[in-house]
Amino acid sequence: MEIKIVRENKKQHLDLLLLADEQESMIDKYLDRGELFALFDGDLKSICVVTRESDTVCELKSIATYEQFHGQGYGSKLLQHIFSYYHGKYSTMLVGTGDCPWILRFYEKNGFQISHRVENFFIDNYDHVIIDNGIQLVDMVYLSRDL
Ligand SMILES: CC(C)(COP(=O)(O)OP(=O)(O)OC[C@H]1O[C@@H](n2cnc3c(N)ncnc32)[C@H](O)[C@@H]1OP(=O)(O)O)[C@@H](O)C(=O)NCCC(=O)NCCS
Repeated sequence: MEIKIVRENKKQHLDLLLLADEQESMIDKYLDRGELFALFDGDLKSICVVTRESDTVCELKSIATYEQFHGQGYGSKLLQHIFSYYHGKYSTMLVGTGDCPWILRFYEKNGFQISHRVENFFIDNYDHVIIDNGIQLVDMVYLSRDL
């Protein structure tokens, strides 16, 4: 298994980026300034994007694994990699996500704790209704993790 930072043509991974954030104009707000990590196990399996938010805080903006490889530990491996990569560079990593129990569990299992919520984020910032596994996303839930 190998994890690389992708610096050129980040949009080549738009298919995976859209799994995590289905509106391309929202991805465009962070992709250029973010660092994109790609996990390969033979082929590409997962990606994530991390941005600098301040001298001490970075934010996981996106993480996705190709659907046929969900539940095989690739997402968690990628998270463990970026935790060590950013250890010493920032003190806190944030992530904002929809209010869905399975995704909150995924982050909590990887050491994040719920921090705060931005009400109506998905209503105010997206041009269409976002449904994740049958749940309409309304508020953005932020979780944080010490690095
Ligand atoms: C979230 C995601 C990246 C996890 O990747 P992964 O490679 O499957 O990660 P892991 O195998 O390390 O962990 C899987 C865990 O995710 C949880 N999970 C996340 N999304 C889930 C979903 N839609 N349905 C069921 N379980 C889900 C499971 O609880 C599972 O935990 P378990 O191993 O204890 O059963 C992957 O589900 C994904 O690509 N989802 C679509 C994109 C997305 O929603 N990204 C997050 C946006 S904030």
